[in-house]
Amino acid sequence: METTEALLRVQGLGKTFRMYHLDAMLHAFEGISFDLHAGEFLLLKGRNGAGKSTLLRTLWRSYLPVEGHIWYRSRLGMIDLARAADVDIALLRRQEIGFVTQFLNARPRVAAQDIVAEPLRLAGHAPEEALDQARHWLGEFGVRPELWRAYPSTFSGGEQQKVNLARALILPQRLLLLDEPTASLDAGARAALVRRLTDLKASGVAIIGVFHHPGDVAQLIDREIDLATRVIADDSERIDHVAL
Ligand SMILES: Nc1ncnc2c1ncn2[C@@H]1O[C@H](COP(=O)(O)OP(=O)(O)O)[C@@H](O)[C@H]1O
Ligand SMILES: [Mg+2]
Repeated sequence: METTEALLRVQGLGKTFRMYHLDAMLHAFEGISFDLHAGEFLLLKGRNGAGKSTLLRTLWRSYLPVEGHIWYRSRLGMIDLARAADVDIALLRRQEIGFVTQFLNARPRVAAQDIVAEPLRLAGHAPEEALDQARHWLGEFGVRPELWRAYPSTFSGGEQQKVNLARALILPQRLLLLDEPTASLDAGARAALVRRLTDLKASGVAIIGVFHHPGDVAQLIDREIDLATRVIADDSERIDHVAL
């Protein structure tokens, strides 16, 4: 019988911020270990400042951890995201790992439908087909058709978030990191997101998320990690593993 290997194996992961102005170290989190398999959904919990966003950004490699490993089984083989070269990280971000926040990076004079279609076009889909799908997902998330050709830099926060979700979820990734993607969404868009995540999970996408309304995704959760309260340590304690 085939045993399925984890898609992601996090071992003893820790992240510390050096707070120069306070001459102190802030342990955003430490000793985080878990396995995540294809099709699994992990909920990150914890009060404000518990380190949820920092953990997601560390997995996405916006931050380098100070200790631990992030073993990721990519299509090309095993790679430790904690140590991988930037060029490999850039490739994985394009092809395998997605990160969704509540904020759209709205570029000036790019229409909503083009922003959403872009990941498909970059992946080699024909322009017309990419646009068709983009319109489909804009509609799903409740962006009104008269806005599809408009520039999202002028949209409301909620509308921008819908465009952001459509873009982020149009092309299925293997690992999806979600940081409060529903914070300012209306009920209809939240329902659309849950439907999309349900389908992605069923197709084998592994998902790690922080949710403003965890009840929305209750049906999807396989596991939860509650991030313990952080500690601020005296600077004299350790300064040998400061973040690079
Ligand atoms: N770039 C940074 N530099 C210094 N401290 C940071 C930085 N990013 C986050 N922190 C601190 O780390 C802690 C965890 O933050 P965060 O991960 O955003 O919490 P959460 O998402 O759980 O609300 C907070 O105390 C925050 O102030
Ligand atoms: Mg956060």
